Amino acid sequence: MDTHGLPLRAAAANVLLAVENGHSLTQCLPPALQQLAPEERPALQALCFGTSRWFHRLDGELQTRLKKPLRKQDRVVHHLMLIGLFQLRFSQQATYAVLNESVEACRALDKPHLTGLVNGVLRAAEREGAPEPADNASRFSHPEWMVEKLRHNWPDDWQEILAANNEQAPMTLRVNARRLTRDAYLDLLEEAGIEAAPTRFAPQGIQLTQPVPVDKLPYFADGAVSVQDEAAQLCTTLLDLAPGQRVLDACAAPGGKTCAILETCDGLNEVVAIDESAERLPRVQENLDRLDLDATLKQADAANTGEWWDGKPFDRILLDVPCSASGVIRRHPDIKLLRRESDISPLAAIQLGLLDAMWDILKPGGRLVYATCSVFPQENHRIIQRFRKQKDGVQLVEPDVAWGRDMGSGRQLLPDPDSHDGFFYAVLEKPDA
Ligand SMILES: C[S@@+](CC[C@H](N)C(=O)[O-])C[C@H]1O[C@@H](n2cnc3c(N)ncnc32)[C@H](O)[C@@H]1O
Repeated sequence: MDTHGLPLRAAAANVLLAVENGHSLTQCLPPALQQLAPEERPALQALCFGTSRWFHRLDGELQTRLKKPLRKQDRVVHHLMLIGLFQLRFSQQATYAVLNESVEACRALDKPHLTGLVNGVLRAAEREGAPEPADNASRFSHPEWMVEKLRHNWPDDWQEILAANNEQAPMTLRVNARRLTRDAYLDLLEEAGIEAAPTRFAPQGIQLTQPVPVDKLPYFADGAVSVQDEAAQLCTTLLDLAPGQRVLDACAAPGGKTCAILETCDGLNEVVAIDESAERLPRVQENLDRLDLDATLKQADAANTGEWWDGKPFDRILLDVPCSASGVIRRHPDIKLLRRESDISPLAAIQLGLLDAMWDILKPGGRLVYATCSVFPQENHRIIQRFRKQKDGVQLVEPDVAWGRDMGSGRQLLPDPDSHDGFFYAVLEKPDA
């Protein structure tokens, strides 16, 4: 994808086309941002995130406004019109600017034969206003299968979950307990004029009233704080860490939880952080370096213990498995376009396989925390149920906490529009030999 020299909207249309073709915003936004002037970058980010968030609503409308779909080679113009609709429906941008700049972007994309269509569709959209949503995908701005799955899984909560997914997530920090207290950092934020409050459940968490660039956060580069959602912070609190323990973070990149483990407990024997992604593993080292922490990093498939394990069992294992990420859609709205219903069963098989393999390298008397950022039971408490059926002697620990719902085989947090993401946790212990 070459977005070099393109106007903002044209660059955004190319990014969204790449997302539709299976690339995440995390992958394809940074190179596109690099090709824009610094002052234009926040706008590109806002267009890509906003249009992804409202994609299914806007696409429902656009389809009713088009007599026939565009040809495959013109698909980028479909995305350009979605971006225009996004601005008309959800931004303060003046209509004439949306129309003019969309037409100009259409030319820049080398589609001059479609400028009339772009202009006509957006003009009609402005004149006629937003139509009534024709189906649940448009109404809730999620793919139909997700709406149905959530309705089935959460008959009392599905509409709240869908609404929370369409909100923008707050920016939450984790204060580095090795450096300073949460109260001391709240004072530093106040001095810097950044409004913030302690998180309700995570002991080191601070939620900002408005997001700010990390370089505006006091002592960020020196490792005073990290950006981490409150739900993600709670994983570490369940590990019951103590000096001398050998700890494994089995799916570690980009290392948010590896660092939290090391910050929480001084004097751990060793922290081993594994990730199978060669691309993502260096991010763990970058985070460790900024926070001045040490861990043993290995690039490997954690489940293939023969490839990387030294034979010494672990006292604690954090297994933050790859998952649908259905609990963090508000932070990653592109998940709505990327994920398919058919992804869930293969993910569940990987999750169960990882759990089985990690159990074998857990010390008798040791503790494993299984976590996902998913709200689908298939990846959560049903994995724990399946595992406990196939394995003897797995003790389920009921953590004494004031948050989440007891699912019988683990705890579930649903995304909260005012605070944390959606997450699932199960605490398992292996009996002493
Ligand atoms: C949910 S993310 C982990 C986030 C991380 N724990 C954090 O807090 O920053 C899941 C990670 O698992 C990794 N992964 C997926 N399958 C794996 C496997 N079989 N072995 C090791 N890592 C794996 C992915 O590359 C991804 O980085």
